[in-house]
Amino acid sequence: MAPFSDKHLINEGEKKTVICVEGNIASGKTTCLDYFAKTTSIEVLTEPVPKWRNVRGHNLLGLMYQDSSRWGITLQTYIQLTMLDQHTRPMISPLRMMERSIHSAKHIFVENLYRSGRMPEVDYVVLTEWFEWITKNTDVSVDLIVYLQTSPETCYERLKNRCREEEKIIAMEYLEAIHQLYEEWLIKQTLFKVPSPVLVIPADNDMQKMIEKYEENRDRILTPYNIQHCL
Ligand SMILES: Nc1ncnc2c1ncn2[C@@H]1O[C@H](COP(=O)(O)OP(=O)(O)OP(=O)(O)O)[C@@H](O)[C@H]1O
Ligand SMILES: [Mg+2]
Repeated sequence: MAPFSDKHLINEGEKKTVICVEGNIASGKTTCLDYFAKTTSIEVLTEPVPKWRNVRGHNLLGLMYQDSSRWGITLQTYIQLTMLDQHTRPMISPLRMMERSIHSAKHIFVENLYRSGRMPEVDYVVLTEWFEWITKNTDVSVDLIVYLQTSPETCYERLKNRCREEEKIIAMEYLEAIHQLYEEWLIKQTLFKVPSPVLVIPADNDMQKMIEKYEENRDRILTPYNIQHCL
């Protein structure tokens, strides 16, 4: 078999811009994407949660929340695949906005399972080998991370109100652990290499205030090449 050419899954054609919206569970990412989808002509990719809930009839998300030690590797392997699919899908607009990324799947969610003792080192190592192969050989680059920074308490309140069946058992400690990892990764920048500049948007406010903030930051979000000069 011929060796793989470098970055063989790269998007064809001219380089386009990818913005990833990151943040804790229920921090308001989907709501943010929906807002920009309604008010601009960018391409928006929400997190492929429906796929995680139904892989040929299996609800991997539900299994993971019931027994993360058993099903963590299964769900995370599939999430990594669905994220790779999202990053490498041909772009239909010069600007793509994605909900989370292959980077946060690995650096936040896999990391949390491993650090909390619910993922054996051998599973972590296999996912890491896959992740490193993917980042080396495919184009999963990001031009800007928009970090919706919330308190874990806000996320807990929003979670309770939205009532997704699998999430009923999410504890405050889980939201705190995810929050700490996001802060280490994107604010302190001590966890793993950050793949792009980061725009931090405090996101504990109500919807009306969030819309004002999105409007204030609209140019910075939608023209990320300028942001390197304003950070
Ligand atoms: N600023 C806000 N004020 C009040 N409620 C909000 C706000 N933003 C989002 N919500 C509500 O909180 C819930 C979670 O929001 P959303 O689905 O956008 O979060 P998410 O970050 O996409 O979550 P996930 O990590 O699960 O994808 C939704 O019910 C949404 O309507
Ligand atoms: Mg969402």
